[in-house]
Amino acid sequence: MDRTFVICKPDAVERGLSGEIIARLERKGLRLAAAELRVIDDQTARTHYGEHEGKPFFDDLVSFITRSAAMLLVVEGPEDTWQVVRTLMGATNPREAAPGTIRGDLGTLLTENLVHGSDSATSAEREIGLFFPALAASGS
Ligand code: RTP
Ligand code: MG
Repeated sequence: MDRTFVICKPDAVERGLSGEIIARLERKGLRLAAAELRVIDDQTARTHYGEHEGKPFFDDLVSFITRSAAMLLVVEGPEDTWQVVRTLMGATNPREAAPGTIRGDLGTLLTENLVHGSDSATSAEREIGLFFPALAASGS
């Protein structure tokens, strides 16, 4: 199976929408390989979003993703799972995300856009290794 990494961000958990997001992934045909409700620590958040270090929104992004519990998921499907998830998520800015997508249906703010999904197969493996090191090591 092909895996990707997903976060139901703190805004989603606070609003009681993690079940809705997981249901959409499952209805599409994807399955959970791991799930954990966890407050992401500051260093892990900075590593996870390392590509954005130095950008004006970086500190706010780290504060947001660490502010309360997030639902961390490893999601699997037959192939190109990261792309399947990104399509379900919709555009980064919920104001531009199409109806029918998670962000398009459930959000309004760029800074509180409910869900993260890896943006490539390489990112997926890196992020699974960062958040679920035991799972990455076992390859299962
Ligand atoms: P994510 O990594 O969270 O799945 O989102 P993404 O790939 O769709 O978007 P990305 O470009 O990686 O940006 C990461 C998060 O940073 C916030 N952002 N704020 N203020 C701004 O200009 C700005 N730009 C991006 C968004 O919340 C985005 O999800
Ligand atoms: Mg991203």
